[in-house]
Amino acid sequence: MGGEVPFPTGDLMKGKRGLVMGVANKNSIAWHIAQQLHAQGAEMAFTYAGEALERRVRPLAESLGADLIIECDVTDDASMDAAFAAVKESWGSLDFLVHAIAFTDKTALEGSFVENTTRQIFKDTMDVSAFSFVDAANRASVLMKPGASMITLTYLGSERTIPNYNVMGVAKAALEASTRYIARDLGPKGIRVNAISAGPIKTLAAAGISSGKHMFSFNRKASPLRDDTEPRGVAGAALYLLSDLGLSCTGETHHVDAGFHIVGMPEESALKE
Ligand SMILES: NC(=O)c1ccc[n+]([C@@H]2O[C@H](COP(=O)([O-])OP(=O)(O)OC[C@H]3O[C@@H](n4cnc5c(N)ncnc54)[C@H](O)[C@@H]3O)[C@@H](O)[C@H]2O)c1
Repeated sequence: MGGEVPFPTGDLMKGKRGLVMGVANKNSIAWHIAQQLHAQGAEMAFTYAGEALERRVRPLAESLGADLIIECDVTDDASMDAAFAAVKESWGSLDFLVHAIAFTDKTALEGSFVENTTRQIFKDTMDVSAFSFVDAANRASVLMKPGASMITLTYLGSERTIPNYNVMGVAKAALEASTRYIARDLGPKGIRVNAISAGPIKTLAAAGISSGKHMFSFNRKASPLRDDTEPRGVAGAALYLLSDLGLSCTGETHHVDAGFHIVGMPEESALKE
C-alpha cells in the first residue's frame, strides 16, 4: 500500500508551500499525503512530536527536499509559537496546512466509554485531537492569502458508535464541528477548510484501538467497494482539497472509506468471520 506505486505527478501544487503536521513514520496518513503533494510540486515543512520521532521523520522529510523540519508538541503553546515563528521566518507565508494529529490514553480506547473516560482523559483527548486544529488553523491563517487551504483528518466514530473508539469519537465530532466554524471564519479571507474522514488504515494511531483487527475486516466486508481504505485515496482527496481543484469547497467532511459510511445494514456475508 501507499508509496509502492508512484503517486500521480503534475503541477497542481507547483509554487505552493505548506506545513504538514502529523508524520510519525512511513505509515502515517500525513506521509502518504505529503508524497502525493510532493509529486504535484508542493514545497513542504514538517513538524514532529518529540525527539524520539525526529529519527523517523527527518529522513522522510529530507527525502522530499524539506529543510524546515520542526519539533512541535501541539499541547504546548511555546512549542506552537516556536514552530509557526520558524515557518514565518523562513517563508513569510503559507499556502496550505495538513493537520493529521490525534492522541488519547490507551485505557480509553477499550471497553466502556462512560466508565473509562475520566475528566483528565476527556480534556487531554480534546486538546490534542480537536483544539490543536483550531489553534494551528488560527496561527496558519495569519500567514495565508486568499486561495489557501487547510485539511484535517477525522473518522466515522464521530457520527456513529464504533467499538472501543470511545472518547476519540467525541473528539472527532468536535474536530468536525470546529472545521465548519473555522471554515465560516476564514471563508471571507478566501481560505478553505475541510476534513477528510478516512476509513481504517494501519498506522501507529490505529494500532492503539482494541479490536482493530475486527474493525479492518468488518470495514472490508461491509463496505460497498469490499476493500480496505487505500492511503493513496486519502492522499488524492487531500490533493483535491488543497489544490485549486477544490475551489468553492469548504466546511466539508469528505469520506474516503470505500463507502462504508453509507451502509445502514451490511450484507449477511459481512457478519460471518
Ligand atoms: N489510521 C486510521 O485508521 C485513521 C482513520 C481516520 C482518521 N485518522 C486520523 O488521521 C490522523 C493521523 O493519524 P495516523 O493514523 O496517520 O497515525 P499516526 O500515529 O501516524 O499519526 C498521528 C500523529 O499525531 C501526532 N501527535 C500525537 N500527539 C501529538 C502532540 N501532542 N503534538 C504533536 N503531534 C502529536 C503523532 O506524533 C503522529 O505523528 C489522526 O487524526 C487520526 O485520528 C486515522
